[in-house]
Amino acid sequence: MEYFTTTSAASRRAADCVIVGIYERGKLGVGATDIDAASNGLLKRHFKSGDVSGSLGHCSVLTDVTGVRASRVAVVGLGKASSFDLTKYRRALASALHTISKSKSRQILNCLTLEDTGGAGSYYLARQTAQTIGEALYRFTEMKSGKKSPNMPLKKVGIAIAHRSDATKSMRGAEHGDAIVSGMSLAKDLGNLPANICTPSHIARTAQKLAREHKNLQTRVLNEAEMKRLGMHSLLSVTAGTKEPAKLIVMQYKGKAGKKPVVLVGKGVTFDSGGISLKPGPGMDEMKFDMCGAAGVIGTIAAVAKLQLPINVNVVVPAVENLPSGKATKPGDIVKSMSGQTIEILNTDAEGRLILCDALTYSRRFKPDTIIDVATLTGACVIALGHHRTAVMSNSDDLSANIVAAGISSDDRGWPMPLGDEWAAQLKSNFADMANVGGRDGGAITAGCFLSKFTDGMTWAHLDIAGTAWKSGKLKGATGRPVPMLTEYLLGRCGALP
Ligand code: BES
Ligand code: MN
Ligand code: ZN
Repeated sequence: MEYFTTTSAASRRAADCVIVGIYERGKLGVGATDIDAASNGLLKRHFKSGDVSGSLGHCSVLTDVTGVRASRVAVVGLGKASSFDLTKYRRALASALHTISKSKSRQILNCLTLEDTGGAGSYYLARQTAQTIGEALYRFTEMKSGKKSPNMPLKKVGIAIAHRSDATKSMRGAEHGDAIVSGMSLAKDLGNLPANICTPSHIARTAQKLAREHKNLQTRVLNEAEMKRLGMHSLLSVTAGTKEPAKLIVMQYKGKAGKKPVVLVGKGVTFDSGGISLKPGPGMDEMKFDMCGAAGVIGTIAAVAKLQLPINVNVVVPAVENLPSGKATKPGDIVKSMSGQTIEILNTDAEGRLILCDALTYSRRFKPDTIIDVATLTGACVIALGHHRTAVMSNSDDLSANIVAAGISSDDRGWPMPLGDEWAAQLKSNFADMANVGGRDGGAITAGCFLSKFTDGMTWAHLDIAGTAWKSGKLKGATGRPVPMLTEYLLGRCGALP
């Protein structure tokens, strides 16, 4: 998408559509005030007759308004003037885009950026504009045959700014937002693809293709024989039941010589049937989304590479399929992880931690400054936080606070959860160094504690995205989270934020 900024008044610029806002009780926004004046009070008259409304997200489109150079005016409700903020801005813009999405608009001018959002600043306003547009335009039609309904052919978006001095920050926000959108779209595509197509090999090919697009991004893929030589028997126990070959995908982005990298580890279970501890049938299709951790970290490194940020980032993705068969791992089996610690697999459905622990041990070779794993790890996390926030667990309070803060500023929020010996004690095994499950109570935390046994000496955080990585029901589909949160964290680390 192409973005530009403009200080010209809403009525004065040619476009296929200009978006302006109106608050409850008929208070006109900045752009609407200008258009109302240029059109001899048209908006005020429409408000009186009930044809435009100030309730949040209500949108009407007016055409051929005299005195206005744009061919359409989308008037969207902004709700109460006193409580307008960045979240409401996104909702209003999203519904305006939804309303005009059937039109053939190629060029739009968005004047909602002129409203007071309670101090969001021009950088974040422009960034959220780009992200909202990306979200609104995203379609997953790859698997549909026949004629696909056409999308709005939007090519160019103008962002209205009050002062010329806002232009630089605004453009930077749009550029960052656009990169985040492409990372999210990649993550969504990988998540939405069915497990018969999005196999470990498919994710590996996607990572290799991405590396070809950026000269300072490399991808290496390890096969099962190589993983066996490394002693990754915990990871390999998960793939024992399937014919689909497992892959360990390793990506390296080099943006700053001589600096220790941030390592992102993503759970890549391309289908989680539960294995011999088979899951119940209803809703099992959604376990194709069990690779959304992998998709999230690959989407993030794609955004970083697109922006060529001055930072080193590595991605490690253990990619496997978890199926039952005559060769599958059985409850009670004991395996030796790459770290040397032995694990009694009491439940083959707690497979995410079994692949992540070996990926975390493998990652030590990069001497990470910080290591963050991302996983659709536990149903218990969904019980704890619902579908709104990503669980953040860490052995560093600073890191946890930084990630939670990045979630707030990127509007992709997380919430801290504890780790500790009390919960870790639930993982005791009579036969091995630890069990892979710790009972129902505090299930998201015991999963985090399991991983913490493999991160000694590293500054580490664990993100459980089981509730946030995809939506169920009518809007079923991957969300692209936590690409915004992770990219924000990395942007902050390399001083690229205003
Ligand atoms: N991928 C699932 C977690 C999951 C379940 C995410 C539902 C989103 C929705 C994970 O592999 C799993 O099966 N976890 C088990 C762990 C249990 C056996 C300790 C779970 O949460 O039931
Ligand atoms: Mn499972
Ligand atoms: Zn799983």
